[in-house]
Amino acid sequence: MSELLLRPLAEGDEFAFIQGAKLWSEDDLSWYAFDWQPGQPFAEYLARLRRNTAGLELPEGFVPNTMFYGFVDGQIVGRLHVRHRLSEALRRRGGHVGYAVAPPFRGRGYAQRMLTLALPICERLGIQDVMLTCGDENVASYRVIEACGGCLAERFYDERDRIWVRRYSIVGSKLSGGAG
Ligand SMILES: CC(C)(COP(=O)(O)OP(=O)(O)OC[C@H]1O[C@@H](n2cnc3c(N)ncnc32)[C@H](O)[C@@H]1OP(=O)(O)O)[C@@H](O)C(=O)NCCC(=O)NCCS
Repeated sequence: MSELLLRPLAEGDEFAFIQGAKLWSEDDLSWYAFDWQPGQPFAEYLARLRRNTAGLELPEGFVPNTMFYGFVDGQIVGRLHVRHRLSEALRRRGGHVGYAVAPPFRGRGYAQRMLTLALPICERLGIQDVMLTCGDENVASYRVIEACGGCLAERFYDERDRIWVRRYSIVGSKLSGGAG
């Protein structure tokens, strides 16, 4: 597997970002970017992401958050979103970290690599118990979490979405790379 670099977007990433969006033509683009639609200026998206990290002008109920993108050989293969702390809604569903890998790049270990790289970032943000949730049928996602040291805390039924959900917790040495 080529080396994966996980970092926020920067000014020079417009081409890679637009190319990366094209990989989602047959999937839900919101997995790639929440605050961007095709045609929207990249600089505007970048500014929004930076305000999100700084906790400025957040929508009601939102917490400071940072979007990271996974680059392999200059191409964006996926993204990972870190919520700096939990709101009531995130505590119930969503947790601290969410991620997605572009369909053509799935099954190559990139999600696991992104989460592995994100855990020390969470620790530096002061998160000592990283909470993640995923659909009970999302085998790929919970394998990623378990491979990164996640312990299953509970399975619960989400009445709103009518699905069973798994809640995981990653703590201690596993945050600084102990999970491998
Ligand atoms: C979930 C997701 C991020 C996994 O990304 P990925 O890069 O393909 O994952 P990895 O290559 O790191 O594989 C992780 C594990 O899942 C397994 N896996 C991958 N695709 C799978 C599938 N469709 N069914 C079952 N297992 C699968 C892999 O074999 C691997 O397990 P292993 O380490 O035991 O061999 C990706 O499928 C995705 O983006 N899905 C849509 C968004 C999403 O569901 N995000 C998570 C929200 S909770």
